[in-house]
Amino acid sequence: MSETSAETVGLVPAAGLGIRLGGALPKAFVSLAGRPLLSWAIDGLRESGAVGKIVVICGADLLTRAREIAGPHVTVVAGGAERSDSVRAGLAAAGTPRFVLVHDAARCLTPPSLIRSVAAAVWNGAPAVVPALPVVDTIKTVDDHGVVTGTPDRSALRAIQTPQGFDFRLLADAHRESVDEARAVTDDAMLMERAGVPVATVQGDPYAFKITTPLDLALAEAIVASRGANVR
Ligand code: CTP
Ligand code: MG
Repeated sequence: MSETSAETVGLVPAAGLGIRLGGALPKAFVSLAGRPLLSWAIDGLRESGAVGKIVVICGADLLTRAREIAGPHVTVVAGGAERSDSVRAGLAAAGTPRFVLVHDAARCLTPPSLIRSVAAAVWNGAPAVVPALPVVDTIKTVDDHGVVTGTPDRSALRAIQTPQGFDFRLLADAHRESVDEARAVTDDAMLMERAGVPVATVQGDPYAFKITTPLDLALAEAIVASRGANVR
């Protein structure tokens, strides 16, 4: 492990309910090829070699199960109702590292190479970094009745993934100072944007897709099966 990775904490928000997936368990605890999404996500972070410590944030009722999955070297804390509440809980348990990577448990097949590329960008001085991919669909805005009101220029749109990398102090301060504002944001980079911090992008990776619906889980199962069981 490099000196810089020793100063980098990986936060894994895993406290969501997985309503859109519709499984019997919260999403991070749903099985992919025989083991929970959370286990796959932690393995990816470990394999990247980019983090010296991992903090998992899960539902308060699943702390014991998450500790079994994550093993003795991972800190596990309870999250909150919104994703930003969970990230804030994770930040509070992270100590005072120089850098943080926030990585959704639901992006469980994210290649370690993408995690390293985000880490490298923050280590090189970018205060905030997100993986970005060009948008393939035409995106439209609609009004309350579903009537189209506009078509933004697709060439300027990006789909954003995780891990998102930050200067730890900047992200911790932003979460502390804007609890109510943070509830309305869907990713951590939005808090940085609102604070006027420049957010850099690195090339995203299709395999860092988020498992949201049953179709996504079927895709993940097919990917893992094509690689041979239980191999990343
Ligand atoms: N998350 C979290 N705490 C919350 C909500 C979400 O830690 N209160 C985490 C999820 O566990 C997931 C990531 O944030 O790893 C991205 O959220 P999302 O894909 O929306 O997952 P869920 O909230 O679980 O799914 P849904 O919105 O369908 O219920
Ligand atoms: Mg959600």
